[in-house]
Amino acid sequence: MATIIDALANMALMALGTAAGFQVTLRAQQNLQPHPLPRQFAPLLEHPLRLEYLDPPRILDMAGVGADMTVLDLGCGTGLFTRAAAHMVGAGGRVHAVDLQAAMLAQTATSVEAEAVQARVSLHHCGAYDLPLPDDAVDAALVIATLGEIPDKPAALNELRRVLLPGGRLAVADEWLNPAFMRLGVVRRCAEDAGFRILHRVHTLGGYSALFINDK
Ligand SMILES: C[S@@+](CC[C@H](N)C(=O)[O-])C[C@H]1O[C@@H](n2cnc3c(N)ncnc32)[C@H](O)[C@@H]1O
Repeated sequence: MATIIDALANMALMALGTAAGFQVTLRAQQNLQPHPLPRQFAPLLEHPLRLEYLDPPRILDMAGVGADMTVLDLGCGTGLFTRAAAHMVGAGGRVHAVDLQAAMLAQTATSVEAEAVQARVSLHHCGAYDLPLPDDAVDAALVIATLGEIPDKPAALNELRRVLLPGGRLAVADEWLNPAFMRLGVVRRCAEDAGFRILHRVHTLGGYSALFINDK
């Protein structure tokens, strides 16, 4: 019996060690050269464990998302936040879902169709530095677990500021388990340098969410 318990404990330790080693390697790669989450990892974005600590409607509420608004979801991935935003803006609103990877956008397209909100969603296959939107067009922008993957953060934040209305809101959230995790202090410095002001922040078991206002 003791041998079986020892063997199981050893296996659990090995699994933990492998997972920790994997995280360390991914983080080091992201630090050296920020890059988009490979599409093979897309299932992790809607994994039940992630949904245990991440609550899209709560973050959207914090950003003041409501009926008839225009929302930008930068780095939409599989569409977890795009869908939630599409439900909250209603038939009179619009959600612009942006992603650098066509494979991620394709998953967003499928998932918004599955929830019958595709008429409120525009998909944009492009990067963060050159958004296909006019100036002052967006009420609220979401950057969830994405800023750390973008190499030129000031360029992305300046572009977000351009498309946001004066007084528009920027919600940034990140998670400890994200290999491209960015500390809130660093996000805040970058956002303030770009002309945003922090309004609110919440720390949770999984990470944090923060709300900034566009002080144009
Ligand atoms: C970790 S995923 C997060 C997805 C989604 N926001 C969520 O929380 O479920 C980050 C996403 O940002 C996209 N991304 C990374 N860099 C980008 C860039 N420079 N411009 C646009 N999208 C980018 C990636 O392709 C990926 O789909």
